Amino acid sequence: MNTVKAIYPGSFDPLTNGHLDLIYRAAKIFDHLVVAILRNSSKDPLFSVEERVAMLSEGIAGFENVSVSTFDGLLVAFAREQRAQAVVRGIRAISDYEYEFQMAMMNRRLSPDLETIFLMPDAKYSFVSSRLVKEVFQLGGSVDGLVPKFVVERMKDKTPG
Ligand code: PNS
Repeated sequence: MNTVKAIYPGSFDPLTNGHLDLIYRAAKIFDHLVVAILRNSSKDPLFSVEERVAMLSEGIAGFENVSVSTFDGLLVAFAREQRAQAVVRGIRAISDYEYEFQMAMMNRRLSPDLETIFLMPDAKYSFVSSRLVKEVFQLGGSVDGLVPKFVVERMKDKTPG
């Protein structure tokens, strides 16, 4: 039987409800979805890769066809290694499109058979990003409803005092 495996790559620092919404949508379409955390990100992360793996593992607990992994280097090389046919990325607004389009085209150049599929999260998450969640939380604002409760708890644990 022909099964379709997709990779959902990202930094997930931290996992948001927007990411989970996308995972839910992708899990309905693909036979298997691998949520893949980039290890060698140049960004200064709030959570270690291991902490992010733990949070994602908790987030995907209810999904039978979703797993969590990490990768280094080129996404297309990881996708090849995983024998995945597609990459899933979320588009929240037109502003996301330009960067996503560039990545999709570059990845196509590197690996012509790997398709990038864009999915839109629920409109209620259209303004939610890991970067803003971190900023709001660090400045004392509430991020309830934007990230899972267990992520809020872990963010609190990171706060001094
Ligand atoms: O959640 P992010 O930070 O927007 O995810 C970006 C990510 C991890 C998908 C992208 O940086 C990536 O694929 N990096 C791996 C290195 C790579 O393949 N670079 C060329 C992409 S065109």
